[in-house]
Amino acid sequence: MFLRILVLSCFLSSSAYSWWGYTPGDSVDNSTQSLFGTGYHPKQPIDFNHRMHATDRKIPCEYCHSAARRSKTAGLPPLNTCMGCHKIVNTSAEPIKKMKEMFDNNEPIKWVKVHDLPDFVRFSHRVHVLAKDKDGKAVLECQSCHGQVQGMFTAEQWAPLQMGWCVDCHNNVKEPAKEGKPALTTAPVTCNTCHF
Ligand code: HEC
Ligand code: HEC
Ligand code: HEC
Ligand code: HEC
Ligand code: HEC
Repeated sequence: MFLRILVLSCFLSSSAYSWWGYTPGDSVDNSTQSLFGTGYHPKQPIDFNHRMHATDRKIPCEYCHSAARRSKTAGLPPLNTCMGCHKIVNTSAEPIKKMKEMFDNNEPIKWVKVHDLPDFVRFSHRVHVLAKDKDGKAVLECQSCHGQVQGMFTAEQWAPLQMGWCVDCHNNVKEPAKEGKPALTTAPVTCNTCHF
């Protein structure tokens, strides 16, 4: 199914992100959740389009996922963040009317979780997002772990969240230290780094 959409969209769409196989309007859920799987993008209560906001309107990821730099979770934006624009933007569109109604009733949007690590794993956005190399440049981007979200419709799981995925990257991060330079970032692989 995914392949078919991908092939079709290469013909039909001239968008730079057509590689991702999504054309605006496609938020169909043809995937199932699996910690180790990829491509999961459940049907969401509002068809929120990442490409339309992050690429077309150039809204930074952290405008909406503002906790990433400060805490364990990156978090999802409250409806208030959306309404900051949508009180005046596209107010006659159906999903926006629905959002306004929810906002007026103080009703949150119940987004369906895409990623879900087991509770016995310790993971924090903060340490990853703030990791810097010796020139003070960020070592990782959101895309290092989530893929090209700015080209997606609703977000989908890009990496299988296996222990090996975490450990492989942690092992690579250590490499600069072997070349005689001190490593500024350390991504340990001892068990209690990630397990309580
Ligand atoms: C080192 C890999 C990594 C990086 C870098 C990363 N994430 Fe994540 N992200 C994850 C993992 C793993 C989860 C699942 C966490 C869980 O289920 O507890 C996740 C979950 C999320 C979620 C779901 C809500 C939550 O907080 O659990 C959002 C939203 C998110 N990430 C956005 C971002 C954004 C935006 C950035 C960049 C500022 C980013 N992530 C950088 C690995 C990463
Ligand atoms: C910084 C401003 C801004 C924020 C914040 C914002 N949007 Fe938007 N949104 C836009 C703009 C601009 C468009 C119109 C894009 C177009 O028509 O080309 C849009 C379009 C949309 C549409 C499509 C409406 C239609 O015409 O069918 C939906 C749905 C939507 N946004 C949902 C959301 C949700 C949900 C949030 C919060 C998570 C949000 N937006 C946050 C600016 C914003
Ligand atoms: C205008 C607000 C907005 C912007 C900008 C935005 N997002 Fe999102 N993001 C959302 C909303 C709303 C959801 C929940 C619906 C969904 O899953 O698509 C979400 C979901 C996600 C998820 C999945 C969360 C989960 O349940 O596991 C990830 C990962 C994510 N965004 C990453 C990013 C990255 C990376 C960027 C920048 C390229 C970005 N987002 C830009 C609003 C935004
Ligand atoms: C793409 C690379 C990458 C991936 C994937 C990754 N990490 Fe990391 N991780 C890092 C880097 C880089 C650091 C070091 C941050 C620093 O020292 O500034 C780090 C640090 C950590 C730390 C903090 C260790 C300490 O110093 O106390 C924990 C905990 C952690 N990671 C857990 C995880 C888990 C769990 C996963 C998988 C779900 C994961 N990481 C996936 C790159 C990654
Ligand atoms: C960088 C992070 C990281 C490190 C280091 C790490 N783990 Fe894990 N581990 C995970 C993640 C994420 C999962 C959940 C995904 C999975 O099962 O692959 C996991 C799962 C597991 C499981 C499977 C539990 C189950 O229910 O299937 C065991 C057992 C485990 N780890 C033991 C260890 C041991 C022993 C070590 C040290 C040699 C270790 N881990 C080091 C991240 C890590």
